[in-house]
Amino acid sequence: MSIILGIDTSCDDSSAAIIKDGWQLSNIVASQNQIHRQYGGVFPTLAKQAHRENLPAVVAMALKQARVQWSDIDAVAVTKGPGLAPALEVGISSAKNFATLYQKPLIAVNHLEGHAVSALIKPLSKKGSVQKNDWQGESWPKLALVISGGHSEFILIEKPGQYQKLGYTIDDAAGECLDKVGRLLNLGYPAGALIEEFAKKGHAQRFVLPLPMTDRPDFNLSFSGLKTAARQKIAELENQGQLDQQAIFDFAASIQEAVFNHIIYKLERLLLSSNLRKLQYPDRKTFKNLQTKKEKSLALPFQEILLGGGVAANTCLRQKIRHILQAHQKLTKQKISLRTPYSKKLCADNASMIAFAGEIAFRKQKFAKIEDLERQPNLALS
Ligand code: KG4
Ligand code: ZN
Repeated sequence: MSIILGIDTSCDDSSAAIIKDGWQLSNIVASQNQIHRQYGGVFPTLAKQAHRENLPAVVAMALKQARVQWSDIDAVAVTKGPGLAPALEVGISSAKNFATLYQKPLIAVNHLEGHAVSALIKPLSKKGSVQKNDWQGESWPKLALVISGGHSEFILIEKPGQYQKLGYTIDDAAGECLDKVGRLLNLGYPAGALIEEFAKKGHAQRFVLPLPMTDRPDFNLSFSGLKTAARQKIAELENQGQLDQQAIFDFAASIQEAVFNHIIYKLERLLLSSNLRKLQYPDRKTFKNLQTKKEKSLALPFQEILLGGGVAANTCLRQKIRHILQAHQKLTKQKISLRTPYSKKLCADNASMIAFAGEIAFRKQKFAKIEDLERQPNLALS
């Protein structure tokens, strides 16, 4: 049994949450979107100031909504990275203060781990009954797909707390690409959710954008070429006076299609990999054999995909993933299911996922020393 307080200030959301044995008791997020919108991106010093102003009330609210006292808390988990250095600083120093004041162990969490495991969090039922969330006893490994504004990664979760990065973006993240194209279309910041709405009214085939990295035999991603191609096409439309409302809808649909097709292309290769742990890309022979049913199965080490990150809220992305999982099942007779966070609030940055990752560390009694804990803006997942 454990009750963990999580704190996240990695970017532009100040968040605190309480997780009790894998169940979310509260998850408070104070968004700074209004502050940063005018700059078309996150302004680090303003983010730091807003975290300082918001965090004490956010933590108090998380405790109140969860109906727990400081004496009930077993540990304080806080994001140590990756993220914006000045923003991370606020969460870490506040977690240290709480840990000292209330004599609680401190847990340092990798923000990426939070996104990777966010789909495992369960909501407290309306009646308030807490059954077991046996995430430890589930079948492992699982594949995590973290697609956000800062990250786009394929991660093999051997078991909770043990991660292998299979692929990652070599430049921009998927959400970053959508946000940048959104800015070119004057959609405001962040643009991902609006692009999803506009895409519903547009034709995804009107603007043909490239499919990146098809010549690279790895599971890495790249979105900067798409962004450049989009910029050129938008400039052409503007010069010709053709960037009307329908063109914006069509562009939203086309860029969304291109970003997701790239992720799906690499995911498809990954599912057909002959040896995932060695990052072995499928060769032509394997493909052919699969199509002619000579090769029955590829012994993938996982049966479930966990989706996380802000872009994971997108219904079109979820549909595309489910679609290729069905096609994969037809081809290989292997059933792989997709698990998404139970609420869209858990896709975007939030402290519930940090408290949940904190619970994983708590069970292993992996604590951080107050004097050693420092922000790590470029922290990788290992
Ligand atoms: O996870 P997140 O809140 O922050 C990071 O850790 O980066 O992700 C924010 C990103 C932004 O780029 C935003 O535009 C994108 O997620 N996003 C979406 C949607 N909602 C948020 N992208 C596509 N479709 C959405 N519905
Ligand atoms: Zn994030």
